[in-house]
Amino acid sequence: MSTSSSIQHDAVDIAFQAKDGRRLANDKNIAYILPSDELEVDRLKLNHEMWKLYKSKIHEQLEKGIRVLDIGCGPGWWTLDMARLYPNSQFVGIDMADVFQTSDVPSNVTFQICNASTGLKFENESFSFVFQRFLVMGFPVDQYLQSVDEMKRVLKPGGAIEIIELVNDYKNAGPAFTKIGRGSMDSFIADKISGFLNKAGFVDIQDINYDVPIGAWGGEAGEMFLAIQKMALPAVKVMVTELTSITSVEYDETVEQAFKEADTHRVSTRFRQIYGRKP
Ligand SMILES: C[S@@+](CC[C@H](N)C(=O)[O-])C[C@H]1O[C@@H](n2cnc3c(N)ncnc32)[C@H](O)[C@@H]1O
Repeated sequence: MSTSSSIQHDAVDIAFQAKDGRRLANDKNIAYILPSDELEVDRLKLNHEMWKLYKSKIHEQLEKGIRVLDIGCGPGWWTLDMARLYPNSQFVGIDMADVFQTSDVPSNVTFQICNASTGLKFENESFSFVFQRFLVMGFPVDQYLQSVDEMKRVLKPGGAIEIIELVNDYKNAGPAFTKIGRGSMDSFIADKISGFLNKAGFVDIQDINYDVPIGAWGGEAGEMFLAIQKMALPAVKVMVTELTSITSVEYDETVEQAFKEADTHRVSTRFRQIYGRKP
């Protein structure tokens, strides 16, 4: 294990700006609407704890040693856990923001700053497992499609692809959650991803739909997801108020109301976990 990090920079420099106390990308080639700062790093850690690492049938290859790519890895919580679990494999985490963890980084991890929406800077067939989680707030539909094609290009034949995404759709939403859902980017990209994989020529595609409760009514998972939403909804405030006619005051009131609605309406949301194989 190494205690220092290895971070490589793409040729592209991505600009950031401070808005309402948050750090956001300010670059015409970046569509991402969430902040890239310490608060967000904490939220992503909580988010990470909710998920098993992967579903693909790739454990044996990982044990033997393969190359793995994590696209939009953020702080690298997934990359780091996987690298510790599979020391014979090599892990590359890429993100447009330099929010990578820098201490206790295993020697089989490399982080790279790069904008994945303009293509992946890797050779054809250079990875055996490509993973992407929670990029719907960063890729409009056309970029998502292109990203799936790029994932296929860099995968070796037989390689595994796995994607986890949020569907920004609130079941049993009261008026406040309905309003928040309307303010987002394309809320339903996640529901289309298995179709994207199919179109790109992936095979053995599995598409799991998870209903996730928000609030105490949903037990431990509900409490945890409410805690994540309490960090996520204020985080998208700057962009939602810029992209819609909702004012800052109205947004704060709506979010507060939404948290009350979570239990009174028994609100839930959905996630999709899609995985498959390159023939
Ligand atoms: C919601 S976070 C998820 C992070 C990580 N995948 C996880 O599950 O913990 C989305 C990440 O995608 C990154 N991102 C957004 N647009 C990107 C782009 N065009 N290229 C590379 N990374 C991008 C963001 O900087 C952020 O770290």
